[in-house]
Amino acid sequence: MDVAVRALDLSKLPPESWDALVSLLNEEERARAARFAFGEDRNSYIAAHALLRAELSKRAGLPPQDWRFAAAAHGKPFLIDAPRDMRFSLSHTRGMVAVAICEGVDIGVDVEPSDRRAESMKLAERFFAPEEVTLLRTVEGEARRDMFFAIWTLKEAVVKATGQGLSRALDSFAVSLDPPRVTMLDDPAQAWSAAHWRKEKFHFALAAQGPVRIDFDLAQAASLFP
Ligand SMILES: CC(C)(COP(=O)(O)OP(=O)(O)OC[C@H]1O[C@@H](n2cnc3c(N)ncnc32)[C@H](O)[C@@H]1OP(=O)(O)O)[C@@H](O)C(=O)NCCC(=O)NCCS
Repeated sequence: MDVAVRALDLSKLPPESWDALVSLLNEEERARAARFAFGEDRNSYIAAHALLRAELSKRAGLPPQDWRFAAAAHGKPFLIDAPRDMRFSLSHTRGMVAVAICEGVDIGVDVEPSDRRAESMKLAERFFAPEEVTLLRTVEGEARRDMFFAIWTLKEAVVKATGQGLSRALDSFAVSLDPPRVTMLDDPAQAWSAAHWRKEKFHFALAAQGPVRIDFDLAQAASLFP
């Protein structure tokens, strides 16, 4: 099974593409976009949902505006009336958005800026699994911040794949790096796939609840419009 991860760098979007991106959204999404207090957050929301709709439409014969969504108990969105068992995840942060799409396997994607200030060790000691804290202690300074965000994005991707979000204890599973791996501490036999990328000023991670092939690409705005 293949998972397509597509990211869109908002700093590279020509100003004239924003109207076209908004035109891919439905009424509810446009109304939600209008409620964001900050323009950068609004733009990330618009771009993520437009990218998702455009990428779904490339894989099934439905116009971008026609996809319908609902949310499960902890907020994980899913498709209603999809032609096949299509699954997805999306993530937005200021300046960058990412979506992941596949069939039949639960997936989670996360993107975070690499220059975000974070009390890495304090957060890790409070929320991460002991083996992740041990891993972080092997490095210092910039390398520690990088490793922290690699682990953080992978952990976010896992809780987005399961749909539990932050209702799942982040120390109930452990990720390792080089190569990225996910181990559920109460059920180590679960076969997870994981990937992490560092591109420009962002960390990206993908987690999938099963064996998959993962393909990552930066999307071009022009490719979103048929
Ligand atoms: C909602 C959450 C799943 C991800 O949030 P996030 O990393 O802040 O934001 P992202 O942009 O990556 O993801 C948001 C998207 O995830 C999706 N989402 C929401 N709840 C979800 C859930 N339970 N499962 C999967 N996906 C979910 C939605 O599509 C949402 O975007 P939308 O509202 O525009 O549709 C949750 O983990 C969260 O609130 N995280 C806060 C960050 C944090 O404190 N992390 C600590 C790590 S140490």
